[in-house]
Amino acid sequence: MNYATITKEILNDLKRIVGEEFIHEDEERLDIYGRDHTEDLHYKPRVVLRPQTAEEISSILKIANEKNIPVTPRGAGTGLSGGALAIYGGICLSMERFNKILEIDERNLQATVEPGVINEEFQNAVKEKGLFYPPDPASKGSCFLGGNLALSSGGPKAVKYGTTRDYVLNMQMVLPTGEIIWTGANVLKYSTGYNLTHLMIGSEGTLGIITKIVFRLIPYPQNNIVMLVPFNSAEKACEAVSAVFRAGITPSGMEFMERDAIDWVRKFESDINIDVPAEVQAHLLIEVDGNDLDLLYKDTEKIAEVMSNFECGEILLADTAAQKDMLWKMRRQVAEAVKSNSVYKEEDTVVPRAELPKLLKGVKAIGKKYGFKSVCYGHAGDGNLHVNIIKGDLSDEVWKNELPKGISEIFKLCVDLGGTISGEHGIGLVQQSYLNIAIDEKRLELMRGIKILFDPKLILNPGKIFYNGL
Ligand code: LAC
Ligand code: ZN
Repeated sequence: MNYATITKEILNDLKRIVGEEFIHEDEERLDIYGRDHTEDLHYKPRVVLRPQTAEEISSILKIANEKNIPVTPRGAGTGLSGGALAIYGGICLSMERFNKILEIDERNLQATVEPGVINEEFQNAVKEKGLFYPPDPASKGSCFLGGNLALSSGGPKAVKYGTTRDYVLNMQMVLPTGEIIWTGANVLKYSTGYNLTHLMIGSEGTLGIITKIVFRLIPYPQNNIVMLVPFNSAEKACEAVSAVFRAGITPSGMEFMERDAIDWVRKFESDINIDVPAEVQAHLLIEVDGNDLDLLYKDTEKIAEVMSNFECGEILLADTAAQKDMLWKMRRQVAEAVKSNSVYKEEDTVVPRAELPKLLKGVKAIGKKYGFKSVCYGHAGDGNLHVNIIKGDLSDEVWKNELPKGISEIFKLCVDLGGTISGEHGIGLVQQSYLNIAIDEKRLELMRGIKILFDPKLILNPGKIFYNGL
């Protein structure tokens, strides 16, 4: 794509809109805003803007649209598919000053928030009122709700409660051409034309900038029980997953971790105290939640019974808050721990739950064929397996030229099993060359048509999802 450069005159206009304090061109800032959590990728924007109102964003986008300047929206930069990287330079539009919880409506169990609120801060604020906002990505302590909408982020609780998509009722957004609109209504049912709210969710910042979000909330479940179940065979662990649901239980967490995942976290985080016998190859971390503790203990017994059919080892039942926190911290730290150990690529495969054993087996076989090692973990109850491919001793040549063939094979396997190539991390920059494995040409054509309708000059987050802005 050919975009215009940002002239002094344009910079002055942008400065007038956001104010001198919130426009940045210094190397240090451009460097920081040039990265997200995706591998070691780095693309510096020309300028960083930190607006505070929808009107300011509208004015910025009007200029960008008129002058043909690329704009890359940015939340907290915790994404894993390169969605926040300004690959064409231009404007990095940081949403960090949209950080207010505007209203918690206890009558309707709804909340209106700005997109730069940190996920966990929102969860804690509604919890104080006895309410629950379940979507909890591993990065919940730092990621922004707006970024969560951009990808319909999941997290462990999605298995029982659904992903971000299931909690958004309505949103205010600024179109790439500068108009400010609301996408829906603050209602639990919506059958009033095309659902623009759901179109926006998962659109990875390519269709508009979200400036307000209306969420639905649910009552906070009073109790939970967490268990860690070891297995000597990783495939057996995967087989046990769907059996739990077939036994009539929907856990509020059903996570899988290969042995290496836990070993690497233990190296990375000194306060994780778990004894893992030498023969253990994988764990399931399972949580049940609800209000009636007796019922939860019954569910726990039933789960233990199901697990015993799959040759599990001794189950650790976490019953103190500290122990539960430690187990969940261990799980949440896997991606960071792997990253600190080696250059890696993170795949976000997802298949129908009962196909998980076949997926794991296939991933390992493909790894053998191409000579790469992988550490697998993730949201087993959703059939969502994160496959972290480790560079280790692989040459740059193999990493660059052979690995994509292996990844393509993994993705083809996902599709053959009825799944797709990303469950919660998105396509962004790093998965776009694989998109046609999952989406046929007719569907891609419809998607491109939507993009052009919203963003005729392709200024908003270009080079994401589709090549070259399209
Ligand atoms: C996780 C992130 C990487 O589940 O999605 O840890
Ligand atoms: Zn995940």
